[in-house]
Amino acid sequence: MRIAVLVSGGGTNLQALIDANIQISLVISSVQNAYAIERAKNAGIKTLVIERKSFKDINEYDNSLADALTQEKTDLVVLAGFLSILGEKVLSAFSNKIINVHPSLIPSFCGKGFYGLKVHEAVLDYGVKVTGATVHLVNEVVDGGKIILQKAIDVLPSDTAEALQKRVMQECEWVLLPKAVEMFCKGEIK
Ligand code: GAR
Repeated sequence: MRIAVLVSGGGTNLQALIDANIQISLVISSVQNAYAIERAKNAGIKTLVIERKSFKDINEYDNSLADALTQEKTDLVVLAGFLSILGEKVLSAFSNKIINVHPSLIPSFCGKGFYGLKVHEAVLDYGVKVTGATVHLVNEVVDGGKIILQKAIDVLPSDTAEALQKRVMQECEWVLLPKAVEMFCKGEIK
C-alpha cells in the first residue's frame, strides 16, 4: 500500500501516523515552511512542496497534485491538516481513496471556513457540551464524505479554544487517524 500524506501545518497528525509505524511513501505540503515537512524528513520520508500560492487557480494546482500522486503510484491519500481544497482531477483519480481528519463531530462545525482553531472557537461560542473528531472519506462536498470513525470528548467549562484543540488532537485525532489508515489498508472500509 503506497500512502501519500498531504499537510499544510504543524504535522502532529502526520507524526501520529509515523509513530504508529504506518509506512508513508510521500508527504506533500501546500505551504513552504510547514513544520510537517521537518517531521517527514526526520522520519526519512520523501517530501514535496507544491505551494498553493504558486498556482493561479485551483485546477492548475489540482493537476500538479494529481501528477505527483499518480507518479508515486499512490493507493491512499491522507489529508492530515491539509488546508487546500482538492479539485476534480484528484477527486476522480482517487475516488474513495482519500481520507481526511476533521476536528469536530461532523455534521457539526464543518464545511467551508471551519478549519483549525476556528472549529474550536465555534464550538465554544455555540456552547455545545461535547465535541471530538471525525475521519471521513473525501468527496466534492467539503467535509461531506462518508464517515469512517468518530470519537467524542466533553467540553469543559474551563476550556479555551487552544486547550480544546489540544485535547481533541491528543484524545481523538491522533487515535482515529492511524486506526482509519489501518482499516483502509486491511480493506475494512467498504
Ligand atoms: C488538525 O486539528 C486537523 O484536524 C485540522 O487542522 C489541524 C492540523 O494539525 N484540519 C482541519 O481543520 C481540516 N478542516 P496538524 O498539522 O498538527 O496535524
